[in-house]
Amino acid sequence: MWRGLIEEYRPFLPVEHATPVITMLEGGTPLLPSRLGTPYGIRIGVKYDAANPTGSFKDRGMTVAVSKALEAKASGIICASTGNTAASAAAYAARAGFRCVVLLPARGVATSKLVQSLASGALIIPIRAPFDRVLRLARQAATRFGLTLVNSVNPHRLAGQKTVAFEICDVLGRAPEALAVPVGNAGNITACWLGFKDYRSAGRIDRLPRMIGVQAAGAAPLVRGRPVSQPRTVASAIRIGRPATWEGAVQAIAESGGQFVAVSDDEILQAQVALAGEGLFVEPASAASVAGTFKLAREGAAPSEVICILTGHGLKDPEVVLARATAPRSIPPTLDALASRLSGTPSRR
Ligand code: F0G
Repeated sequence: MWRGLIEEYRPFLPVEHATPVITMLEGGTPLLPSRLGTPYGIRIGVKYDAANPTGSFKDRGMTVAVSKALEAKASGIICASTGNTAASAAAYAARAGFRCVVLLPARGVATSKLVQSLASGALIIPIRAPFDRVLRLARQAATRFGLTLVNSVNPHRLAGQKTVAFEICDVLGRAPEALAVPVGNAGNITACWLGFKDYRSAGRIDRLPRMIGVQAAGAAPLVRGRPVSQPRTVASAIRIGRPATWEGAVQAIAESGGQFVAVSDDEILQAQVALAGEGLFVEPASAASVAGTFKLAREGAAPSEVICILTGHGLKDPEVVLARATAPRSIPPTLDALASRLSGTPSRR
C-alpha cells in the first residue's frame, strides 16, 4: 500500500526520524500511456499529478515543507500563489493545526482554487498586484511576522517535488527520453531535474532525460530570456513574468540538452481538449506540457518518447471550459424528445 511520498522516499528527503510527518498519502499518481503522440509517430505518456489530494502536484512539496515547519515549531505558514500552492498550503496547514496566510493576485485566480483555500480555513488576502510582486510581499511578510514561507523558494518544497521524477523512473525502470513540464515560477522543472540527478547518483538510473520547459507565449520570460512585466495567458496558474527559480530552470535545460518552448493560448486549449479525449481533464496550465510537445512534434523536433506532467485538475478552473461551451438545453422527459436530440449529435466513434 502506498504510504505517502515521505515514507516511500525517506532516504532522498531532508527528514529525520523525529520529523513529524504531515501527509495525505500524496504522490503515487498514475503514469499513463496515451494515443496523443500517434499522429506524430512518437509516444506521449502522462503523469497525472492532478490525482494528488488537493488536485495538483503542489502536495508533493507541501507534505515536506509543512512537516519541516512543524518540526521547526513554526507558528504558521504563508505563501503567495496563483491558486494551487494556496489550496495545498491551506489543506496541509489545516492538518498540521497551523495558521495559514495566503496572498493572491487580486485578479485572475480561478474560483475553485479560492474556494479550496477558503474551505480549509486559510486567511486569504487578495493583493492588487501581479504574482511576482505578491511573492516579494510574502517573503517580506514571512520575516516580519515570523511565518514559514512555503513557496517553492523554500528548499523543502523542491525536495518533495523531486519525487515525481523518482516515481516515473520506478515505473519505467529507467528515465524517460524526455520530460515536458509546464513552467511558471520554475520550481517544478528545477525539482524534477534534481530528482533525476539524485536517482542517477544513487545508481537507480543510468541516463538522464531531456527536459522540456513549456511556457505560455504571453508569459514566457524563460523562452525570451528576460522578465515579462505584464504576463498574459488563459493558463492563470503560470501567469508569471519573473520566475523565482530562474537559474534552476535554465540549468535544467542546459545540463539536459533540452529546451524551453512557448505555446499560444489556442495551443494550450487545444491540448486541453485532446487530453479530455483521453479521459484526462486538466487545467490549462497542465495542458501546456502537452501543447509544447505537440508543437515540437509538428516541427519534427520532438523526442520519440515524452512524458508530460499534468500538474493540476480540470475542476480547478471550470470557467475556462464553460466560456467556450454551449450550455446544454433541457428537454421534456420523453423518449421522442431524447431521440430527436440524439439524432442531431455525432457518435464518438
Ligand atoms: N501547473 C500548475 C497547475 C501550477 O499551479 C503551477 C504553478 C505550475 C504548473 C508551474 O509550476 O511554478 O513550479 O513552475 N503554480 C504556482 C501556484 C505558481 O502558486 O500555485 P512552477
